[in-house]
Amino acid sequence: MTLNLSSASPSLSALVVGGGMITEEVVLPALLQQKRLGNIGNITVVSRRASTIQRLQKIFPDQLMGLPDPATTPSETSHPEGFREAIAQLPKPGIVIVATPDHLHTPVILAAVAAGHHVIVEKPLCLKVGEAHQIWQAAQEKAVYVLTDYHKRHDPAIRGAKYKFGHGDLGQMLHGHAWIEERREIPLKYFANWCEQSSPFEYIGVHYVDAYFFITGLKPRRLIGFGQKKLLPRHDKDAFDAVQAVIEWDDGSVLWVQTAWVCSEHNSALTNQGLQLLGTDGEYWADHKARNCHFVTQKHGYEDYNPNFFKTFDSWDPSEAIDVAGYGYLSIVQGIDDVLHLFRRTAGLAELEAFRKRQELLQSWEPKRALPGQALIGTAVNEAVRLSLANGSKYVGFDENLFPRVL
Ligand SMILES: NC(=O)c1ccc[n+]([C@@H]2O[C@H](COP(=O)([O-])OP(=O)(O)OC[C@H]3O[C@@H](n4cnc5c(N)ncnc54)[C@H](O)[C@@H]3O)[C@@H](O)[C@H]2O)c1
Repeated sequence: MTLNLSSASPSLSALVVGGGMITEEVVLPALLQQKRLGNIGNITVVSRRASTIQRLQKIFPDQLMGLPDPATTPSETSHPEGFREAIAQLPKPGIVIVATPDHLHTPVILAAVAAGHHVIVEKPLCLKVGEAHQIWQAAQEKAVYVLTDYHKRHDPAIRGAKYKFGHGDLGQMLHGHAWIEERREIPLKYFANWCEQSSPFEYIGVHYVDAYFFITGLKPRRLIGFGQKKLLPRHDKDAFDAVQAVIEWDDGSVLWVQTAWVCSEHNSALTNQGLQLLGTDGEYWADHKARNCHFVTQKHGYEDYNPNFFKTFDSWDPSEAIDVAGYGYLSIVQGIDDVLHLFRRTAGLAELEAFRKRQELLQSWEPKRALPGQALIGTAVNEAVRLSLANGSKYVGFDENLFPRVL
């Protein structure tokens, strides 16, 4: 098929799969801003239940189409396979954004790729190395783009570490310490239905695994995981409160990652987070929660405020009320820009020529993006940590394709 696309101003039809927290707070505000800028056309959300669509349409009035259609579908009937029809109906040029729970990314990504659609998937890519390879292979066969939204890669505090490390300022890596811990509302309220299928390590710890790989380019050699189940079982959840891992990388350096999702509901931000690195020639130390900026209000008490992540500001544009900005936004924009670029560079080409051009562009981005070959690292560490926990905190190593095995 030859796409008839104006090279000057294509816009992408967007399909968001999953209508939960990240869709409401980050994905849709980012897409709506990209729509105002002319990069995105129609936006559709497909979720399991019509009640989810109804809620989102109330928050973003007249701006979204949604499936199942609340006008014709009972609000609480579950439609777990509805995304297939939605993907089949998505016009090209389009983009699919996967925001389902961690363990439900793979079928959606594979369906989108099979239909020839480009994809942005919320991190982690998936939870199993076998699935990551399947996604990687499918994406290569179709020459489609599958970007994992590891937004920390766009945080200037992380980009700075990568730049300095890359220029040798830290020398050779010795060790690092990452911490990321969220308030208990995450497993108790937001992920009440699926916290047992994930863990704070898989859900958020993986950000810092990816960050260490992004900064250093190192690959994991072996690891050992620890986990505790003390509070959540008291709330009838067979889920980890906290998970820690010590990861040895292929240069012998070691990263300790501590994660939790049962912090006090009075914590001054949703997430405690930061990273310390020590190399032979220097150190890096960053508190990614306390950015030296806070509010104290009658309404919310004391709040640490991270102006860099994803925030709403007054717009500079007189015709608009608000702008969203930050690394959470830029990470999604990178995916949209890349996909637009792919369509622009292949407009008017015959299918085989377009396929080759897409292959060439994807290969050129491979070293610079969380495409499947890079997103595999986070998935492999996630699966290995699970395996270590399931085996009484035994060491787990990796084969040449990063499949984990107990040592
Ligand atoms: N980039 C980030 O930093 C970041 C932050 C938070 C969450 N996330 C990731 O985003 C993903 C979603 O997280 P969330 O916080 O929105 O979770 P959530 O539980 O709030 O929302 C998930 C949504 O997916 C829907 N869903 C489940 N199965 C579906 C199916 N078969 N078809 C269609 N919809 C389906 C659920 O009904 C729900 O609306 C997770 O992978 C999470 O780790 C990423």
